[in-house]
Amino acid sequence: MNARGMLSLLFHGKKALDLVDAANRLGIVARLDRGPVTLGELCELTGAVPGRLFKLMDGLESLGLVARRQPEDAIASAIYETSEPLGPAVDAVLGPSSIEKNRDAYPYMETFGKLPEIVRGQHHPGGFSWPPTTPEQVAAFEESMAQGTPPIVEALTSAGDTLFRASRSRWLDVGGGDGVVAAALLAVRPALVADVYNLALVEPLVRARAERLGLGPDRLGFVGGDFLAEELPGGYDVVSFVRVLHDWPADVARTLIEKAFRSLPPGGTLFICEEFRTSERLAVQFFWTYFLVGIDSCVSRLRERTWYEEALTRVGFVDVEHRGGLFEVVFARKPA
Ligand SMILES: C[S@@+](CC[C@H](N)C(=O)[O-])C[C@H]1O[C@@H](n2cnc3c(N)ncnc32)[C@H](O)[C@@H]1O
Repeated sequence: MNARGMLSLLFHGKKALDLVDAANRLGIVARLDRGPVTLGELCELTGAVPGRLFKLMDGLESLGLVARRQPEDAIASAIYETSEPLGPAVDAVLGPSSIEKNRDAYPYMETFGKLPEIVRGQHHPGGFSWPPTTPEQVAAFEESMAQGTPPIVEALTSAGDTLFRASRSRWLDVGGGDGVVAAALLAVRPALVADVYNLALVEPLVRARAERLGLGPDRLGFVGGDFLAEELPGGYDVVSFVRVLHDWPADVARTLIEKAFRSLPPGGTLFICEEFRTSERLAVQFFWTYFLVGIDSCVSRLRERTWYEEALTRVGFVDVEHRGGLFEVVFARKPA
């Protein structure tokens, strides 16, 4: 799509989402996900007036969500198909766990209309501190992070046997939020034990999650600390950074990887599950990119997966590999 077309769609973004929501509520999204379908069949399914539904489908086509072939003049013969399942994407953005809805609650109006002054350093948006400093800010931030974790959990679950090689692996999830990712992995790996390493303010959230899930401190524990100021604790077979390193400039990210290397025993595993820089991740990251322009303490710097692979190798890790999926995981071993 060219710039003219994209900007027009952006201008009419609210209407575009209304149209997608309507297609979802009419059952059109679910039907498309089962395979190619004609306008005639869609009319039967939805009780729609053909000339009207044709226009609605044109709307989906203009958004790039469906492709259309029309073998005959009669519009009922138009065939629609998708190149990827639409249902999960629609649910992710418009459903109850939408991270977009969650992000919309952040005070972005502190930035809106002021970007020229902000990028020149003449205006500093308020309403958000990074890292969060009060218990309220911590709770709101970790809650908002937790909402985006299902695809991460899926990626880590499917890579699980490669990441956690020992049957009773001890895992330190560095910057592990309120423990949501660790808890999800513990649920499917009964022999795994995990500690979340995070700023002391986060401890009550991790403890509360563990308690809610009936996980004793021997299965889901908390280690308070500041990874900028100190070494990472030892005693773990597996150390991870999940959506942590992109928050820091390259030299800090490299130092954290070095700290992980030092903390691991020979043969230990480090894995990194990140907002790697792909066009899709950049798009989903757009809110933060916009919102954080004026927040200097958070660099929010998406990097290519290859950057992390090189950084791991440079520090001395071996067997650097990755597993694909909605979220990618890069992992490596400390030499035995
Ligand atoms: C973007 S969040 C990612 C949370 C979680 N891993 C996830 O993916 O949902 C970054 C995490 O790093 C933690 N963090 C930030 N600065 C830290 C520091 N100096 N020491 C330890 N943890 C820190 C934050 O509290 C937060 O939990």
